[in-house]
Amino acid sequence: MSRNYLRYTVTAALPYANGPKHVGHLAGAYIPADVYVRYLRLSGKDVVFVCGSDEHGTAIPNQALKENTTPQAIIDKYDALIRDCFHKLGMSFDIYHRTSEPIHHQTAQEFFLLMQKKDLLTEETSEQYYDEEAKVFLADRYIVGTCPRCGHTNAYGDQCEKCGSTLSPRELIDPRSTLSGKPPVLRPTKHWYLPLERYEGWLKEWILDSHQKDWKTNVYGQCKSWIDAGLQPRAMTRDLDWGIKVPLPNAEGKVLYVWFDAPIGYISATRALFQELADGKKKFATPQRDFGKTGKEDWKKYWQDEQSKLVHFIGKDNIVFHCIIFPIMLHASGEYILPDNVPANEFMNLEGDKMSTSRGWSIEMHEYLEDFPDKPDVLRYVLLTNLPETKDSEFTWKDFQAKNNNELVAILGNFVNRALVLTQKYFDNKVPAAGILTEIDKKVIEDLKEFPARIAASIETYRFREAVAHLMDLARLGNKYLAETEPWKLAKTDLPKVGSILNLALQISANLAVAIEPFMPFTSNKLKVMLNLGNFSWQQIGDSSLLKEGHSLGDPQLLFEKIEDAAIEAQIKKLNDKKNTMDLTAIPVDPAKPEISFEDFSKMDIRIGKILKAERVEKSKKLLKLQVDTGIDVRTVMSGIAEYFSPEDIINKQVTILVNLAPRKIMGVESQGMILMAADKDGVLRLLQPSEAVQPGSMIS
Ligand code: MF3
Ligand code: ZN
Repeated sequence: MSRNYLRYTVTAALPYANGPKHVGHLAGAYIPADVYVRYLRLSGKDVVFVCGSDEHGTAIPNQALKENTTPQAIIDKYDALIRDCFHKLGMSFDIYHRTSEPIHHQTAQEFFLLMQKKDLLTEETSEQYYDEEAKVFLADRYIVGTCPRCGHTNAYGDQCEKCGSTLSPRELIDPRSTLSGKPPVLRPTKHWYLPLERYEGWLKEWILDSHQKDWKTNVYGQCKSWIDAGLQPRAMTRDLDWGIKVPLPNAEGKVLYVWFDAPIGYISATRALFQELADGKKKFATPQRDFGKTGKEDWKKYWQDEQSKLVHFIGKDNIVFHCIIFPIMLHASGEYILPDNVPANEFMNLEGDKMSTSRGWSIEMHEYLEDFPDKPDVLRYVLLTNLPETKDSEFTWKDFQAKNNNELVAILGNFVNRALVLTQKYFDNKVPAAGILTEIDKKVIEDLKEFPARIAASIETYRFREAVAHLMDLARLGNKYLAETEPWKLAKTDLPKVGSILNLALQISANLAVAIEPFMPFTSNKLKVMLNLGNFSWQQIGDSSLLKEGHSLGDPQLLFEKIEDAAIEAQIKKLNDKKNTMDLTAIPVDPAKPEISFEDFSKMDIRIGKILKAERVEKSKKLLKLQVDTGIDVRTVMSGIAEYFSPEDIINKQVTILVNLAPRKIMGVESQGMILMAADKDGVLRLLQPSEAVQPGSMIS
C-alpha cells in the first residue's frame, strides 16, 4: 500500500566481484535504481543510495581457481573494475562498499548472533562430501563425476555443462574431488538453518495480502509460487574457507552462507557511510548530497525507522532472496524495517540470444566504455527505452544506433541546438524577451506544465520506460514548436517575434536540462553549461520562465553525435569473434591432477624433435610409424595420429617428444618415446610446436 514516508533507503544488488558485469546487469537493477534516486534527490528528498561488491560465496574461489590466483586477488581486481565502470556510467551511489570490509563482517556476525540468541536458527547435522586429502568439505563446484543423465564424465556437483541438467553432488556417478582428484567421502557436518516455514503465515499476510496491488506482477507471481510450494528450512552456514566466520565456538571451518551475509551488506554499507561521514575520512563514501550534520548512528534511521521507505532494485534471479529470505531475517530480528517494494526486472537478451559473460555473448560495461568512452548517456538512454520491466527484452546494436541517431540526435539534440544557434546568431547569445503570446505559444506553455507530474508518476511507480518516453515527448514538443513557428524565416521581417519564439524554445531547453538529469546526467550537465543554468529542483520543471530575459548563454555545442554504420558493424563483428573464441574455452576441462614435486617433473626428458620420415602401418587406421630426430639420436616412434595427419603432412615438422618413456612394442614395432599432443574441442589432435623453430634436442624445461 502506498504510504507517506519521511526518507528513502534505496539499494541496488551487490554484484559478485567474480568477473566483469554486462549491460544486462545495468538494465536489470542499476540504471533504474539510479534514475529513481536521482529523481528523489532532485525533488529534495532525504535518500540514501547504497551498493557495493559481493565478495563471498563459492563464486569467488571458483574464479580464483580458473584464473590460477587467490580469492583476494580476484575480489580486488573485479571490485576495482566494477567500481570504475559504475562511476563512469554515472551511478550515483552515496557509498559503494565491499563485503570484505571489517565493518561488514562485524555487522553480519552481530546479525547472526542476534538470530541465534533469539532462537531463530535451528542446528542440523547432515552428510556431505569431504576430501580427506585436502581436508575440506567440498562445495558443489569442487566435485566432478559422471552425469547420471547424459554420461558426460566431467559434470559438476551442481550442474552438467554438457546436457544442462541441474544436479546435486550425491547424484554424480564416480564422484571425485577437483582438489585432490580422489573420490570424496561422506561425513556428517553441522549447520545452522533458518526455518522459513515458520514464517509462512506472516509472508502470506505481508506479501500476498498487502502487496498484491503495488508490487510488480512478475515479482508477486514468483513470491506466490514459492509460498504456495511450501517453504523449507534453509542452511545459513557453509563449510568453506572463504567467507565470514560463524561467530560461535565449535564452528571451525564454517562461514556464513553468502546469501545470509550479502543483503546485510546493504546495512553495513549504510553504516560505513555514516561512520565515514562522522570521521571525515572518505574511503568508500561518495555522498551525492549534503547530508547535513550527521552522527555515526544515523544509519539506524534508514533501517529501523518505519518512516523510511526501503526499496531494493534487483534482477529476477534475486527475487526469492529479497522478497522472502532477507525479509524473514529482518522481520524475525525484530529491529528492522521491511522493503516497501522490490521492483525486480526480467532479463535483457542480446541480438537474439541470452546474455552470458561465460559464453562470451555479452557487452561488458568496460568493453562498452572502452569503445564509447564519451557516450555513457547513450547507453543509459538506450537501456532505459528497452528495460525488461514486464518481460525479457532485447538489446541490438542496430537499435542502439537507431535510438541514438533518430531520437537523441534528431529530436533532443537537434531541438536544443536550433534554439541555441539561432539565439547566438540573432541575439548575441542572450535570452531574448518573450513578446505577446500567440495561441500556439499558450498551448505549448500549458503542455509544458504537465510534464513533471507525468514523468514523476511513472518513476514513482517504477515504470522507467514510460518515464523516458514522456521525457522524449518533451523534446518533441520543442521540436514541433520550432517546426510550426519557423523562426528562421521571420528574422528579416519580425525580429521581436523571433525573439519571443526563441525565448520559449530556450525555456523548454532549460526544462529539459533539469528533467533529463535523472536519466542522462552527463548530458544534463553539458546542457546546463550551454544554458549557463543554475540549480533547479524537480518541482520547478514546467515553469516557462526559468531563464530571465537578457541572461547570457554559453556556447552552443552538439549534445549528441551520429553513430555511423561502420561502428555498429564493428561491434557486431566483435561480439561474434568473442563468442567464437569463448566457444573453445567453454568446453569442460579435465580436473586438476594431484600436485607433484619438482623432482618428479625433472625426471621427464621432454625435447623438441623433428619428424624425418612417416609411414602408414599396415592393418592400423590409427598408427603412423615415425622416424624422429631427437637431437640425441634418430628413433622410431609409433604414434596414434593417422586419423588426423597423413604422412606427407608431418614430414619435417617439429614436435614435442617425451624421450625417456620406457620402450613399448606396438603392432610388433618397438616404439621409443611419445609425441605429445593436445586435443581440440572436437577431439582432433594437434601437434605441440615451438613458436619459432628450435634445434632438435632442445630440452623442454
Ligand atoms: N551477488 C548477487 C548477484 O549478483 C546479488 C547479491 S544482492 C545482495 O546475483 F542482496 F545479496 F546483496
Ligand atoms: Zn549431463
